[in-house]
Amino acid sequence: GGIEYNEQYRPQIHFTPKKAWMNDPNGLIYFNKTYHMFFQHYPDSTVWGPMHWGHAESKDLVHWVEKPIALYPDNLGYIYSGSAVIDKKNTSGFGKLGKTPLVSIFTHSNPILRKEGQDNYQYQSLAYSLDSGNTWTKYNGNPVLNNPGIKDFRDPKVSWFEQGRKWIMTLATKDRVTFYSSINLKEWHKESEFGNDLGAHGGVWECPDLISFVVNGKKIWVLIVSINPGGPNGGSATQYFVGDFDGHQFSTFDSKTRWVDYGTDNYAGVTFFNTKKRKLFIGWMSNWQYANKVPTTSWRSAMTTTRELSLKKINNEYLLASKPVKEYEQLNLAHSSFKNIDLTDDFDLTKKIKTSIDRSRIQLTSDYLKSFSIILSNDLCEQLILGYNESQNEFYIDRTKSGKIDFEKGFSKRITSPRLVNNNKVDLTLIIDDSSVELFTDDGLTVMTALCFPQKKYNNLKLKSNSNFLINNLDYWSLKSIWNNN
Ligand code: FRU
Repeated sequence: GGIEYNEQYRPQIHFTPKKAWMNDPNGLIYFNKTYHMFFQHYPDSTVWGPMHWGHAESKDLVHWVEKPIALYPDNLGYIYSGSAVIDKKNTSGFGKLGKTPLVSIFTHSNPILRKEGQDNYQYQSLAYSLDSGNTWTKYNGNPVLNNPGIKDFRDPKVSWFEQGRKWIMTLATKDRVTFYSSINLKEWHKESEFGNDLGAHGGVWECPDLISFVVNGKKIWVLIVSINPGGPNGGSATQYFVGDFDGHQFSTFDSKTRWVDYGTDNYAGVTFFNTKKRKLFIGWMSNWQYANKVPTTSWRSAMTTTRELSLKKINNEYLLASKPVKEYEQLNLAHSSFKNIDLTDDFDLTKKIKTSIDRSRIQLTSDYLKSFSIILSNDLCEQLILGYNESQNEFYIDRTKSGKIDFEKGFSKRITSPRLVNNNKVDLTLIIDDSSVELFTDDGLTVMTALCFPQKKYNNLKLKSNSNFLINNLDYWSLKSIWNNN
């Protein structure tokens, strides 16, 4: 019978395609009480190829049902990343018989022009749906935004800018973001460029997203930009800028480079359209450095947990924080709780709890932060170590001995992230799945997402400290699979 979602390494609390290749989340949108996630998909192979938009739906941001493919490549090219909007006012004219159109804006990448060595092979196109995202019709006037001669010209993220009553497109254009505006989604006017002289530039810019938060009554804008390569721990990663957007131009408060996630495996992440004040973010849980080589069988890649973003003012700077959405609490199964753990002696959690640890959530708080480590291991002596190093003031995930690592030479690594606040009080949430860990510390200010491929499931979890780290509270939950049958 059908897909069991129970192969070795198959994530149990993260979305994966039933089969074949997946990369970026696309067209994230909430409509008619349903969350839609489209995704870069090549249904004929487990490596990247001619791109389609796969489709999945969710009622709760946690459980996903895969739907038929939404967009197929056509004679204008492969269907690269992009976004989707609800065109409530029918500005596009795609609406018929009073039906509100959903409009997707995506990049066509033309393999023939590319092969011919032309620079103008990427341009932006539209498709619309009048049946709540089930089926899509491509606009017969495609493309709507032609290529001006820039090789990397892609990943349109469109949002409605109410003050100016116009659509704003955020587009990745090689080493910068270019903003365009439109009143009908069909004709686009260039507004401005941002970033060729700011931020990280170790690689090409991709998948930008412009969002806003209200902090202490003030509207603050955040521009998210993925970059590949050039991430803080190698390969792909996502930076962000904080500043102001006036409908024409984005300007930053300072010139610091900041990262949404310091881990190696959160890329091309963007937010949902139409979730009001909630800023809901999903990233592709992989890295172009080895995405095509990870040791999974019938499918490749997973999405990160859905995260809620917030913007916090810390010592006069605005910092982005991420947390797994509260909807994940419904997966909580057995719960164990411990108080005042003194790590002068190792604390063997697996000895204290009766359930397995292969899918779990661990939360701890302490008022006395010191160096410590959490060690996940299995009977093959594979181990993943994560924790905090006081002398470096950094969090880390060490996956050098975590399991299968030899499929790519850069995979085996110790991933680090600076701690962004300066006090002794710390909190940590760790989400463990069959082939990933996601670490959220300091109320989501430091995030590290990392893949790992233990060849047998980790069945031991120990906490250690050489410097008398004292834990006030430790909570442990085993988690239900999001796939019905497991
Ligand atoms: C990011 C990306 C996008 C592009 C897509 C192609 O991972 O390279 O820039 O649209 O993937 O699949």
